[in-house]
Amino acid sequence: MFQPCKILDEKDPHLRRKSKEVTDFPIKKEYQDLIKQTITHLTYSQIEKYEKQYHLRPGMGMAFPQLGHNVRIIVIVHEYEKGKFDNYVVVNPKIISNSTEMIAAEAGEGCLSVNREVEGHVPRHARVTVEGYDEEGNKIRIRAREDLSIAFQHEIDHLDGILFYDRIDPKKRFYTEQEMRLI
Ligand code: NI
Repeated sequence: MFQPCKILDEKDPHLRRKSKEVTDFPIKKEYQDLIKQTITHLTYSQIEKYEKQYHLRPGMGMAFPQLGHNVRIIVIVHEYEKGKFDNYVVVNPKIISNSTEMIAAEAGEGCLSVNREVEGHVPRHARVTVEGYDEEGNKIRIRAREDLSIAFQHEIDHLDGILFYDRIDPKKRFYTEQEMRLI
């Protein structure tokens, strides 16, 4: 039986802490179970039928602080093609290189912990390479571009207590296509 994740609101102090690295592998059962639940939650939230049935807000990423655990684990469920999903689970993720080209989500970003509209473009690297570990402790490396790149940067920010709107420049909330590529 599917149980939606209990997601903390932005006002919760967990969202503003710097999270700790995981040192024990394989990661503990409690975290493994939370990862499974999160993957189901994020997948269902992107499938209209289940989104409605379980009253989910659509989202493609989650970071453990949002679940009340200040440890460096992120989960991304990326719909790379209509109805087809790739799951990414990264423990201790680190951006090891990034493009100089910046992009922003045209409609702005959302966050499952931010239950209000925040308008503005969030500048992000168009491409990033992320290194980290899988749940067993094997080293992994992922190259991400476009919306997946934005998702990785958004989720890794959560591990440092940063929320997407912190990166919106209050003096310049929106960019034109000439200033930045909007996706
Ligand atoms: Ni978020």
